[in-house]
Amino acid sequence: MNFYQILKSAHSGWRYIVFALLVIAVINALSGWLGKKAYTEGNRKLNVFTLISAHIQLLFGLGLYFISPLTKIASSEPIGRYWKMEHISMMILAIILITIGNSRSKKIADSVAKHKAVAIFFGLALVIIVGAIFMMVKADPSRTFFGVS
Ligand code: HEM
Repeated sequence: MNFYQILKSAHSGWRYIVFALLVIAVINALSGWLGKKAYTEGNRKLNVFTLISAHIQLLFGLGLYFISPLTKIASSEPIGRYWKMEHISMMILAIILITIGNSRSKKIADSVAKHKAVAIFFGLALVIIVGAIFMMVKADPSRTFFGVS
């Protein structure tokens, strides 16, 4: 196993951690916002772990961006365009939204407003990530929605 393969497997598997934490965080934030619940220490920790998991995925992704053969395919081909431009830009946008959502939740004092900020920003990030993975399956026939490589 070389460094590329290690990084690729790490990035491929880690997505499930990011995805699971993000889904749980969004569900909790929605129920806190709509159910007007208190913002607990547990909520805060879950949101921070989600943020950290996304930042770790960003590091794996950045490493891959420079060494993966896929980012060297011409942008005129859908697969090259996807890996060179679409994946990185959509995923970085999602990670920025998670970062903003978490930092807003820290600055706001009111519990329900904290939940609302997390629900909106993390929720948007989740939609973008799922969209980017759907686009991956379309642009790159060797990928599957749930495959790990
Ligand atoms: C939350 C953020 C992210 C998620 C959920 C995610 C998810 C994925 C998934 C599912 C794959 C395909 C793995 C497979 O088929 O086994 C992949 C591959 C890849 N990702 Fe990401 N990614 C994220 C962020 C990023 C970022 C920010 C970058 C670049 C800076 C990046 C660069 C790459 C590259 C270059 C590959 C292709 C690796 C290869 O097979 O050679 N990813 N990513």
